[in-house]
Amino acid sequence: MTEPQTLASDKVMARFQEALDRRGLAVAPGPIDDTPTPDEPGHPEYHRLRRAEWALSRWETATPRRYRQATATHPDVIAWANRTINDFDNAGVLLLFGSIGTGKTHQAYGALRHIAAAGLPHYSLIATTAADMHGNLRVHNGDQQHDIERELARYCRVPLLFIDDIDVFKPSETTEQNMFRLINERYNECRPAIFTSNLLVRNPDGGPDLASVLGDRNASRLSQIATVVPITGPDRRPKMRNIR
Ligand SMILES: Nc1ncnc2c1ncn2[C@@H]1O[C@H](COP(=O)(O)OP(=O)(O)O)[C@@H](O)[C@H]1O
Ligand SMILES: [Mg+2]
Repeated sequence: MTEPQTLASDKVMARFQEALDRRGLAVAPGPIDDTPTPDEPGHPEYHRLRRAEWALSRWETATPRRYRQATATHPDVIAWANRTINDFDNAGVLLLFGSIGTGKTHQAYGALRHIAAAGLPHYSLIATTAADMHGNLRVHNGDQQHDIERELARYCRVPLLFIDDIDVFKPSETTEQNMFRLINERYNECRPAIFTSNLLVRNPDGGPDLASVLGDRNASRLSQIATVVPITGPDRRPKMRNIR
């Protein structure tokens, strides 16, 4: 009959101890420092870096090629991204406001990359334009209402949402209702978002504003929770064309 493995290894250890004793070598087990270092599993930094790697690959998938080099450079945009990292529930909405070509979309993708690199426990992102989102929420041939509901729920519940050109879509009763349900649920559940627009929430001169496009209820919620960052400067697009 074969001896159980543990007994066999006990015997080996005993013989090993005898050999040491014969040579007068006292071997006392010393303290073993098996605390993981930052590059080893078990260390919080190791796991944060693995989460950051995963989040950055998620960011890259969600980001159009033109903006894959984007880095947030505006101090207020970086400050909002840091607030999202440190106090996710109270970050609110970052509203990047400015005329065409000033770099709003670039700053937005830069901010989303900055958040990804922090390696938060959960990074999940939908980046879209208002026109694409409303296109997705329209009933097409074969779609059932519950498919649309499921789609709307994705925009409502994703931890991080970016809607580029929030005011650019063909308005209808359905877009108005969907926009209200989206902004209201995210407002209620304190989920952060980034929106860009050429319009302010309210235009003091009485001209076009987000209130007139999105409705007063949405404008009121945005006024409370939005950090409005004007992105100023020249239109960067014609300059780029001249270089080519
Ligand atoms: N800080 C920047 N550094 C380099 N390129 C930039 C920067 N900001 C914007 N761009 C480029 O300028 C162009 C216009 O920027 P974009 O963010 O699309 O403007 P907007 O969204 O305000 O219309 C894009 O091609 C973008 O990649
Ligand atoms: Mg843009």
